[in-house]
Amino acid sequence: MRKRKRNTSFRFQPFSNKQKKLLMWWTDKSPYKNYDMIICHGAIRSGKTIAMIDSFITWSLAKHKDQNFILAGKSMGALKRNVLEPMFQILTAKGIDYHYHRSGDPHIIIGTNTYYLFGASNEASQDTLQGLTAAGAYLDEVALFPRSFVDQAIGRCSAETGEQSAKVFLNCNPNGPYHWFKKEFIDKAKEKKILVLHFTLDDNMSLSERVKDRFRRMFSGVFFQRYILGLWVLAEGIIYDMFNEEAHTFREIPHRIGRYFIGIDFGTNNPTTFLLIGEVGNEYYVLKEYFYNGREQSKQKTVSTYSRDLKEFMGQTHASIYVDPSATPLIAQLEEDGIYPLQANNDVLDGIQSVANLLEEQRLFIHEDCKETIREFSSYIWDKKAQERGEDKPVKDHDHCLDALRYAIHSGVGGELPFTNQRPIGW
Ligand SMILES: Nc1ncnc2c1ncn2[C@@H]1O[C@H](COP(=O)(O)OP(=O)(O)O)[C@@H](O)[C@H]1O
Ligand SMILES: [Mg+2]
Repeated sequence: MRKRKRNTSFRFQPFSNKQKKLLMWWTDKSPYKNYDMIICHGAIRSGKTIAMIDSFITWSLAKHKDQNFILAGKSMGALKRNVLEPMFQILTAKGIDYHYHRSGDPHIIIGTNTYYLFGASNEASQDTLQGLTAAGAYLDEVALFPRSFVDQAIGRCSAETGEQSAKVFLNCNPNGPYHWFKKEFIDKAKEKKILVLHFTLDDNMSLSERVKDRFRRMFSGVFFQRYILGLWVLAEGIIYDMFNEEAHTFREIPHRIGRYFIGIDFGTNNPTTFLLIGEVGNEYYVLKEYFYNGREQSKQKTVSTYSRDLKEFMGQTHASIYVDPSATPLIAQLEEDGIYPLQANNDVLDGIQSVANLLEEQRLFIHEDCKETIREFSSYIWDKKAQERGEDKPVKDHDHCLDALRYAIHSGVGGELPFTNQRPIGW
């Protein structure tokens, strides 16, 4: 089925010098024209994606005919939102026709070229690439891909195209220093002849000083270093180091709560926790907590007991309930009891970022009676062992209330459908 989407046109603002470099690196006069790969990394919102889409499309149309290309995002949803939407607007602005085929193997036809669309959400995603011969690839936010997908995509770029070599365009925000993409690509750029461009907020001239300031204020610690300064630094120690008991707790329950939601973390051998959160304008109040540790109380509760406890916990409150997606037995029991929970978005890093942003902006408060939740703020730490493997995740210990908080905040406040990929709050 052919579908052509009508789109608004992209409103270009002047490109920064860094963006111009990205737009021109493959052109005949460029000293890098023989390089096969470009990596743009650095701050969020620094104009990497926009300029890279423009560069990739312009290059592929100028240098290739009747070829296949790979366009991939961290998931199909992320690709559509972050890449295809602006790409269609850019094409519209340039008066270039395109045809978007959503069914079957999703692809876009521009001129004589075909651009196949991929979501690199798991190890199996690379299978979808097999058999394709491509003259180029564009991978957006590549540090969030499984390595197998990236290797496979690069391996697919072997089309014989006369004079013109295949080229790979990659961009990402920084992660930890042991991340495979940092070690194998960025650190080996020289020997592998990869052009690497580093972006900061100032490389995006479409952002006002006010917006840049807001971004800078929203982050602290490792998040500031990574997402604002664009550095590949280790996430060490306490995760919510911006949490300050005095500033982030409250006693009086606020009036005018607009809506309620509940986050649930479920454990059979570990504690089970519920947190009730109230929204007041754009502020969030953790009103009460439920914490049961079967191991400590030396009596396990069944899911039907938890379901009863939840009903009692909620009382008459109408709340959206976000549950740990792996808690299948509890979800089944709740549904049997007429409670229909939503599956929480369990994207750990984005979820942590959402909570961190709210804390940073003084928009998230914990009732002083939520003792377990408050306690966990000082024990929720990054996992050192995982770090060495290049993975960022919390130590799986004393993380129960804060997991429930992350589910509720990231899925509930994020405001989008719980199953879609969403950016952390405020981005
Ligand atoms: N030259 C430009 N003209 C207009 N808008 C731009 C330009 N460069 C960047 N932007 C806008 O700035 C925002 C961030 O750019 P994006 O490329 O998504 O950043 P990144 O990929 O680094 O996070 C987007 O809304 C984008 O449309
Ligand atoms: Mg981007």
